[in-house]
Amino acid sequence: MKITILVDNYATQLSSLSKRLLSEWGFAAYIHDYRILYDTGLTGTALLNNMKALGIDPNEPEYLVISHRHIDHTGGVKAFLNARTKPIKMIAHMNLFTKAYATGESGKLEDISVDFTREYLESKGVNLILVREPYKITNGVIVSGGILRKWGPSHTGAVTDEVPDDMALYVKHQNGLIVITGCGHSGVENIVEYGFQVTGLNKLYAIIGGLHFMGLPDERIKQVTDYLVGKSPSVVVGTHCTGILGIAALRNALPGAFRLGGVGAIFEL
Ligand SMILES: [Fe+2]
Ligand SMILES: [Fe+2]
Repeated sequence: MKITILVDNYATQLSSLSKRLLSEWGFAAYIHDYRILYDTGLTGTALLNNMKALGIDPNEPEYLVISHRHIDHTGGVKAFLNARTKPIKMIAHMNLFTKAYATGESGKLEDISVDFTREYLESKGVNLILVREPYKITNGVIVSGGILRKWGPSHTGAVTDEVPDDMALYVKHQNGLIVITGCGHSGVENIVEYGFQVTGLNKLYAIIGGLHFMGLPDERIKQVTDYLVGKSPSVVVGTHCTGILGIAALRNALPGAFRLGGVGAIFEL
């Protein structure tokens, strides 16, 4: 299975130079085998530039899965749809259009809601599927729906609500569970344990995406890395809102499994 990171806060690959890849605050990844685009980044500029540079036609994805409603994951939706000529299935949480806010550096509330309406999506031929419960794309690929939070704390950081719309993508692989997460607001333990519950698997093979360590105290980061060490995954890619310090903590705790994310990073699982 092949996953490419299309939008990320970081540019880490030397090939970013020759391919002219762009990074921006946000996250998007493409799951090639199932033609799923998971998130779209903040503006659409990085997404479309990087798709083109990496040879992924905007018409290729058959599914657009939205991890949660924050603009750094949904801000590229309009540009992506505008670049397509085919309709698409878009799977998002029921809460997609609920207003979202975060407290900025100055203490002021920042609006981080989606910048499109349901009517706009329909005018673009989107088949919008709003979910709350787990949603099967195929037998082995499941959108989590709202994630139960009974195994650990949420990671909300500067966001003013608990982000009940946070959804991971769970892929059943012969080596165990693959978890793809956007911002990880549900908290790592909840995202992984709910994945076990939903898929019936009990081995974590890989976790890729935003783990939202930004703004967490060191003790909490240690709790999460200890939890992950206990699950002995083969591949751990914390990126985007995992933050630079969080990425370093993962590298120290899981040196064998750790891989660097960044735009253009490709994982063959
Ligand atoms: Fe995010
Ligand atoms: Fe977020």
